[in-house]
Formats: sequence, structure tokens, C-alpha cells
Amino acid sequence: MQGVLPVCGLQPLLALLLLQTVGCGVTEADTMVNMRKVTHQTISEEMSKTVLLPCLFTLRPGASSSHEPPRIKWTKVWGQRGSDGLQKEQSVLVAKDNVVKVKKAFQGRVTLPGYNENRYNASLALSGLRSSDSGLYRCEVVVGINDEQDTVPLEVTGVVFHYRAPHDRYALSFADAKRVCVENSAVIATPGQLQATFADGYDNCDAGWLSDQTVRYPIQSPRPGCYGDREGLTWSP
Ligand SMILES: *[C@@H]1O[C@H](CO)[C@@H](O)[C@H](O)[C@H]1NC(C)=O
Repeated sequence: MQGVLPVCGLQPLLALLLLQTVGCGVTEADTMVNMRKVTHQTISEEMSKTVLLPCLFTLRPGASSSHEPPRIKWTKVWGQRGSDGLQKEQSVLVAKDNVVKVKKAFQGRVTLPGYNENRYNASLALSGLRSSDSGLYRCEVVVGINDEQDTVPLEVTGVVFHYRAPHDRYALSFADAKRVCVENSAVIATPGQLQATFADGYDNCDAGWLSDQTVRYPIQSPRPGCYGDREGLTWSP
């Protein structure tokens, strides 16, 4: 019972502090940007496909006229928390009004498809999905000193593997290749899927069939005995 008293005693003080805070206008600022949190479920998409990560927000009435245009920042967060309790972060894109800057690591793969039409639609399209794109994507909207954010988890599914016939290295016809993939609970990979895996560092000295009936060597760098030596069959990075 004795322990209860100090807590009760604190309440008026807390109320006073809150009142002061309101007086400073911080509560007002908190509602300057309203994120429309659309989804918190993991978005799952297959390797090499395109995904749309939603980010929608509204501004408090009057906020748009009294401030600079909102600044949008997309960041990827992934990996285990280190000893400092932090995960890895990588900037994906920043946008302000009609200037959209894509970071080098994501160039050619990300756009804001709804942004031209609607400045409050910062949804991010990410194409040519790779396994390494899996992670948490944070959309941050900054108006003046006000900052709001939403996060979307992304999981890229699928694995590309090389099937090698037990005896002869190049014994498989295209029809054989399709069949053995199915026998291994898989389907023959598309060029886009191999491209996505290659971008993540996949390296294999064997030529392999792809769904478009081409044969390619996924070699990161040529080396003795592994040049992708047949003209036109080389997988060029
Ligand atoms: C936002 O943009 C995406 C991509 O163009 C579109 O599919 C979506 O309908 C838009 N949403 C709103 C509310 O404008």
C-alpha cells in the first residue's frame, strides 16, 4: 500500500507537464503529417518481379501552404541487430517536390509511380527483385521540423539453383532440363530470375538452360577453365 502513494502524487505533476507541452505547440506538430498506415503485413513477392511498397500520407489543413513541400525518404533496414542494437540501413531514394533522387545501389530499379499525380502518394515500386532486397522498408515524410514514418516488411521468395546431370556435363536437352527441374520440385528459371540471382553474386561455371531456351553461364569473372567460351552463350554481367 505504501508504494502506491508516490505514484498518485506524481499525477498532478504529469498533468502539469503535459499542459506545458501543449503550450509549446508540440502536440500540434505531431499531427502535421498523418501517415495512412496501409499495411504492416509482410509483402511477399517472387524474385525478379516488381513490388509496390505503399506509403500514403496527408498533411494537416494549412500545413502545405505554410511549409516547404514534404520531403520523402525511403530507407532499407535489414540484418541482425549488432552489439549497438542497430540494424544495417541503406538509403534508397529521396524526393522533394519534382526532384526525385535514387541512390546508386537502386538505380534503374525504383520509382515512385503515383507521385507525379499525387504528391501525398510516396509508394515505392521496386523491380527486378533480388533475394537481398528482403528487409524492412521505411518511408519517412518530413515537413519542416515534423517527421512521420511508416514501415513495410518485404520478403523476396525463390531460389535459383543449378542442376547438374550426374554423368555428362552438357547432356540435357531443353526438354530434359524442364523435366528435371520439375522432378526437383522446381521450374526452369527465367532469364530475369538468373539476372536477379547473378546480381546477388551467384557464380557457376556450368552452362545452364533457361526458360527462353537460351543457355547461359552465370560467371562473375572469367578464370582459367571457366571463360563462358562459346560465342554468344556467355552470360555478360
Ligand atoms: C498510389 O500510387 C500507386 C502506384 O501508382 C497506385 O497504385 C495507388 O492507387 C495510388 N494510391 C493513391 C491513394 O493515390
